[in-house]
Amino acid sequence: MEIIIKRDAEEASLEAAAIFRRQLREKPESVLGLATGSTPLPFYRLLGEMARAGELDASHAVTFNLDEYVGLPASHPQSYAAYMREHLFNRLAVARWHIPDGMAADLPRHCAAYEAAIRAAGGIDLQLLGLGGDGHIGFNEPGSSLGSRTRIKTLTERTVADNAPHFASPAEVPRHVITMGVGTILEARACVVLAFGERKAHAVAAMAEGPVTALVPASALQMHPACTLLVDEAAAGALQRREYYRWVYENKPAWQRV
Ligand code: F6R
Repeated sequence: MEIIIKRDAEEASLEAAAIFRRQLREKPESVLGLATGSTPLPFYRLLGEMARAGELDASHAVTFNLDEYVGLPASHPQSYAAYMREHLFNRLAVARWHIPDGMAADLPRHCAAYEAAIRAAGGIDLQLLGLGGDGHIGFNEPGSSLGSRTRIKTLTERTVADNAPHFASPAEVPRHVITMGVGTILEARACVVLAFGERKAHAVAAMAEGPVTALVPASALQMHPACTLLVDEAAAGALQRREYYRWVYENKPAWQRV
């Protein structure tokens, strides 16, 4: 895992946006995996700015979102479909996007079809991930199988509380979600994980330096051959080897790009 510590969320998001821009330049028809939540907001803004400046063209790209709340229609303002329209698709045209349908009549069947659609698209080339405060990725809460596939999960109290500010009251946060599995995520050819702020510091350390364990689903990314973790100073605060990561990044030979 490559660990890059940037001064703040803006600088880290700029680096992530540059990785996506390069991916799209090298393969315009890339299959991109996308995340929601507060963490990727500056990243999506930057992608929009790059598109407006003519530096980035995603019009041939296909996207797959990680997750969606069960029971929220795409028209609900807190659905991830609404989030993606507002924060990305209104700013940037893509060829095709996919978001799990939280209103599907047969959820297990819908989850299997989502996996099949990823396979049919050729697999995910580059996956964006946000890290949950409890070490989740997608909505794979602690205890998730590290080989799991797209399926229904039940959110923990902590994740419900974390997401409650976006809803009128905590009681309105759906407890069930559809999420790509850890196994699905591990099959992406490359992953970029973002984590910002002190409240993510322990999850960052557990993910990158702790044991690989289902209790920290993001720790499975230690087994991924091409995973970049981009953090700000506050989120890097609990990393034991942060000075080494800093040195490695600052002294990277030109041929060894991110
Ligand atoms: C959402 C997702 C989640 C979030 C995580 C962090 O698509 O994948 O794993 O990235 O819950 O959420 P924020 O960014 O709101 O702290």
